[in-house]
Amino acid sequence: MPKGFFITGTDTGVGKTIMAGAVIKAINYLGITAGAMKPIESGCGKEGDTLIPFDGMFLKQMAHMDDPITLVTPCCLESPLAPISAAEEDKVEIDPVELRKAFLKLCMKYEVMVVEGVGGLMVPIKRDYYVAGMARDLGLPLLVVARPGLGTINHIMMTIRVAQQEGLAVAGIILNYSAPPQQSPAEQTNPKLLAQICPVPVIGIFPYLKNMAEEAVERTAIKNIDLELLKKYL
Ligand SMILES: Nc1ncnc2c1ncn2[C@@H]1O[C@H](COP(=O)(O)OP(=O)(O)OP(=O)(O)O)[C@@H](O)[C@H]1O
Ligand SMILES: [Mg+2]
Repeated sequence: MPKGFFITGTDTGVGKTIMAGAVIKAINYLGITAGAMKPIESGCGKEGDTLIPFDGMFLKQMAHMDDPITLVTPCCLESPLAPISAAEEDKVEIDPVELRKAFLKLCMKYEVMVVEGVGGLMVPIKRDYYVAGMARDLGLPLLVVARPGLGTINHIMMTIRVAQQEGLAVAGIILNYSAPPQQSPAEQTNPKLLAQICPVPVIGIFPYLKNMAEEAVERTAIKNIDLELLKKYL
């Protein structure tokens, strides 16, 4: 069985890529090698005729991988849309079997894998195939990245509900400050409320970082992610 985590989010832009990097650093700190993947990336940049997957490149760098970027991100899409729509726009076919093959190849090389999803669990990849299905195909427990403030409880609870319905294990939630804290009542009370009503533990509250350098992400990850809870899945 592959080990590691599938990093999903309550939404796009919540900090999945940065938190995937942080989780890689936390795993490495435990003395375990981690490979990374962002199997599908839409909204890629373009240099000449080549699509550049920025999330994939960031993860490759954070995991210090010498593998080709085509293995880290096998499916690059130009249109900044859900994969099902981006693939239609770009006139390409997404092949989940090929994505899994790339994943299994990396699994042979690294002790664990950290895989970033696309948006949230119900983002469509193909007809009748959602990000939740990709997480199931890769066989990794989920880590859910969420915003810390008002509205996040609803998004977290719906994500957990979908994960349960799909039979996906959820290792934990990371509340990530992708914007400076507002010191709002919701930010201050949400961790306690989640501890009371959410069946899944909050394994980290990640602060807003002005400096996103690798060392800063690493230092913050080690300090703010519950390594004992991570270890249970490694
Ligand atoms: N803890 C943080 N401190 C400062 N900036 C952050 C933090 N987390 C995320 N960001 C910033 O927020 C933005 C969104 O983060 P990120 O790209 O990781 O989100 P995502 O969930 O991976 O998005 P996508 O759905 O596009 O893959 C980025 O500009 C990132 O640098
Ligand atoms: Mg991302």
